[in-house]
Amino acid sequence: MNTYTDLEDINDLQALIQEGRNQKKAPLAQKNLGQHKTLAMLFFNSSLRTRLSTQKAARNLGMEVMVINFNQDGWQLEFEDGTVMNADKAEHIKEAAAVISQYADLIGLRAFPSLKDREKDYSEILLKSFAKYATVPVINMESATAHPLQALADAITIEEQKNTPNPKVVLTWAPHPKALPQAVPNSFVKMMKLMGADLTITHPHGYDLAPEIVGNVPVFHNQEEALKGADFVYAKNWSSYQDYGQVLSQDENWMVTMEKLGKAKFMHCLPVRRNVVVEDAVLDSTQSLVIEQANNRTWAAQAVLKELLTK
Ligand code: CP
Repeated sequence: MNTYTDLEDINDLQALIQEGRNQKKAPLAQKNLGQHKTLAMLFFNSSLRTRLSTQKAARNLGMEVMVINFNQDGWQLEFEDGTVMNADKAEHIKEAAAVISQYADLIGLRAFPSLKDREKDYSEILLKSFAKYATVPVINMESATAHPLQALADAITIEEQKNTPNPKVVLTWAPHPKALPQAVPNSFVKMMKLMGADLTITHPHGYDLAPEIVGNVPVFHNQEEALKGADFVYAKNWSSYQDYGQVLSQDENWMVTMEKLGKAKFMHCLPVRRNVVVEDAVLDSTQSLVIEQANNRTWAAQAVLKELLTK
């Protein structure tokens, strides 16, 4: 693996999941691997889990970490070629990526979509421009359309928690007052397809994910029907892909309840709005995996960092 911008960068998924589980068992076993190496983490948006778990993972491998909240502390970046930079953008991505590459051995990036211009968001201009102009590997810490570190943590969690070889996994849309990106569900669906999982998607009309993501995964508009017999229920809100970035529904009947969950295990990437996305009883039950999922963010990141350090 030379970079980790999306799940296509993974050479051997089962080996990477196993590596994550190995790192979890012995977090400091390779504490000198990253000695004298530096991870630069660039945040264009907020984060709790990604920021702390990736820092922890890097430090477990002996790396130095530098973090910058780019919107507050960095110069506004220009991404277009040939622009006359006489407005608000003070620095071009060509210089920024090249300069950061001199200070760091790996670059992590978090940059959410605008949710205003689908074509532009799905072109992943920020992530791809960094990957193009950086001379060191780039790690996607959630981009406009993908969250591959989260998806790897989700895969580790399912591997750890499953009681049958091919459990039924249901991704359900859930209500939320704000327009959220499609990055997490996109990467979760891709990951489940890579794992060959028995995946079902359920959402209200108007919330279809990108057709190239969904492929032939069964989609139900009846949540109750979709949840029947589920072993894992993964809840997530996303805004509309068709009516791009719009909140078309806040129907509270889509909130995940204990009654709907049945015997299934509950997953969510967090942060989660209690009693909007999912009721308290679910999150406070032993069927909730959300804290373990967040724990696995460290081991997913550590597996990826180890691969990139040893490439
Ligand atoms: N799940 C996740 O990426 O959490 P943060 O946004 O807090 O990093």
